Amino acid sequence: MSEQLVFQPSAAAIARTHVTKTQYESMYARSVSDPNGFWAEQAKRLDWVQFPTKIKNTSFAYPDVSIKWFEDGVLNVSYNCLDRHLETRGDQTAIVWEGDTPGTDGKATYRELHDRVCRFANVLKANGVKKGDRVTIYMPMVIDTAVAMLACTRIGAVHSVIFGGFSPDSIAGRVIDCGSKIILTADEGRRGGKTIALKKNVDEALAKTEGVEKVIVVKVTGNPVNMVEGRDIWYHDAVATVDADCPPEPMNAEDPLFILYTSGSTGKPKGVLHTTGGYLVYGSLTHQLSFDYRNGEVYWCTADVGWITGHTYIVYGPLANGATTLMFEGVPTYPDASRFWQVVEKHNVNIFHTAPTAIRSLMGAGSEYADKYPMPSLRLLGTVGEPINPEAWTWYRTHVGKDRCEIVDCWWQTETGGHMIAPFPGAIATKPGSATVPFFGVQPVVLSPEGRIQEQTKAEGVLAIKDSWPGQMRSIYGDHQRFVETYFTQYKGYYFTGDGCRRDEDGYYWITGRVDDVLNVSGHRLGTAEVESALVSHPKVSEAAVVGYPHDLKGQGIYCYVTLMAGEAGDDALKAELRTWVRKEIGPIATPDLIQFAPGLPKTRSGKIMRRILRKVAENDFGTLGDTSTLADPAVVNDLIENRQNR
Ligand code: WT7
Repeated sequence: MSEQLVFQPSAAAIARTHVTKTQYESMYARSVSDPNGFWAEQAKRLDWVQFPTKIKNTSFAYPDVSIKWFEDGVLNVSYNCLDRHLETRGDQTAIVWEGDTPGTDGKATYRELHDRVCRFANVLKANGVKKGDRVTIYMPMVIDTAVAMLACTRIGAVHSVIFGGFSPDSIAGRVIDCGSKIILTADEGRRGGKTIALKKNVDEALAKTEGVEKVIVVKVTGNPVNMVEGRDIWYHDAVATVDADCPPEPMNAEDPLFILYTSGSTGKPKGVLHTTGGYLVYGSLTHQLSFDYRNGEVYWCTADVGWITGHTYIVYGPLANGATTLMFEGVPTYPDASRFWQVVEKHNVNIFHTAPTAIRSLMGAGSEYADKYPMPSLRLLGTVGEPINPEAWTWYRTHVGKDRCEIVDCWWQTETGGHMIAPFPGAIATKPGSATVPFFGVQPVVLSPEGRIQEQTKAEGVLAIKDSWPGQMRSIYGDHQRFVETYFTQYKGYYFTGDGCRRDEDGYYWITGRVDDVLNVSGHRLGTAEVESALVSHPKVSEAAVVGYPHDLKGQGIYCYVTLMAGEAGDDALKAELRTWVRKEIGPIATPDLIQFAPGLPKTRSGKIMRRILRKVAENDFGTLGDTSTLADPAVVNDLIENRQNR
């Protein structure tokens, strides 16, 4: 091992692990040399109506990219997450719910969850939802949201969950894209002592959208909301008229399971499509092995179900494994920066999984908040969503993990369905800031920007994946061509991740962040093109270019260069107005951090904006701008530097 900081797995982790270091090595080798044999064996972890005889049938060859796993298998996701556990652990808690307000909580056992899911599924059926129909879910962090997702899978409907922080316009775009005729929502959500007007946002979205026939509203806060006659239905009224008998729909392994919209480097968010069998095999296996999950443990992932982490690692992975999964409605700092640690002690959490942005903000609030809580139940800490800086990693290990918990840094993406690079606790030594080594079946390659494969161990470049794994997305909903163009065109024969990375002399991967025009703001993914398009839709804005810059808490901040219409004055009032505008267009996560009014943007003579220069100026690193002689008007650069906002 190199001289960098290295943490060997603890004796306790080694003693209990599902996979030892030697097993990791031999199983990994087999997963690559004999994927059919390896994954046929792993598929046995699920209950199938018909066990697959065909395992892997995939091609990354441009332009005929096609990905199928377990293609003649038949199963049902809700059956695997619920019914099959009833006999052995019907009375075990499936979901623990901790409310935003301290002292509010709830739970559902596997039996109760099964009952609630069957009833919700019958409500969907009674409202005309059929196998294959798309169902939009815009709900807060309550148990009913997991129930709604599982209810869709029970009847073979395809859910599209939209994060509760997205705006009415964002909802409208997603509803139109997938053609969903029904929306499941709540009166309001709660977060950090505030309420979020979910139903009101849906109403505003539907004012601009046709085709939605039904809105089913779950009562969460009980505050009054507008109900549209003939369209809107209270869930509690609807559920009173259905029974609890709902047989699971047998689904083909390659039937669509869900769509989840995510930002890319261009255009509107893409509907990432995941299918049934491969996703569940991969999600449940990674959940079990990356966290070394054992029966009876309490597992808490702090993500929102509106993101892929919430899908795979709050709902589907844990429930398929018969785990107890905790759902938290609130935020890390409400009422104060000890909330996470109070919740860990209250529910005796064994495995805790959060994002670097939360770790950094809690670290910034002061170590005393974590130090006060011994948290004896904790044994493993996960981190996910963005590169974690070694200081935050070490703080997490010392102050939260008390130097006795394993740290598991998981690199993956909405597109990958589950973990791709992460240490197997008890098998793989960790290094602060590295996601370490690939999961079974994952073959990372480091390519030079020109696409040359870096064969030597120590290498730097962009991260691509050589062959398919079962959790991989299958397509972009309604636009397979865009799927092929986005992920398989730039580096032919590979899945391109959009991330840069370094591989060290021990073969460990260090993800350095996006190399495309995608931002990662507090672990939330955002396309610069989306923010730009929101800005230019403002009547006073003529042109905009958006880049990321390093931000202490958020990882990346949003830096906007804005050219105004002739005659408009760029002042602080307009900056505030543009901030509010973008929030309203996309959602609070897209709020610009810094706005610079620029009379001109650096463009090549063919009119292409040179983003490299804008990034440098935003990073306050303008000493090395590189060649600016190809600019149509090199003088604009001086103005950009002169008026830079991040000093
Ligand atoms: C992008 C994917 C699936 C996790 C939630 C985010 C970045 C994610 C890590 C990590 C360094 C990470 C990458 C990736 N990312 N996890 N452990 N270390 N970077 O999913 O919204 O699809 O974003 O998040 O840049 O491409 P997502």
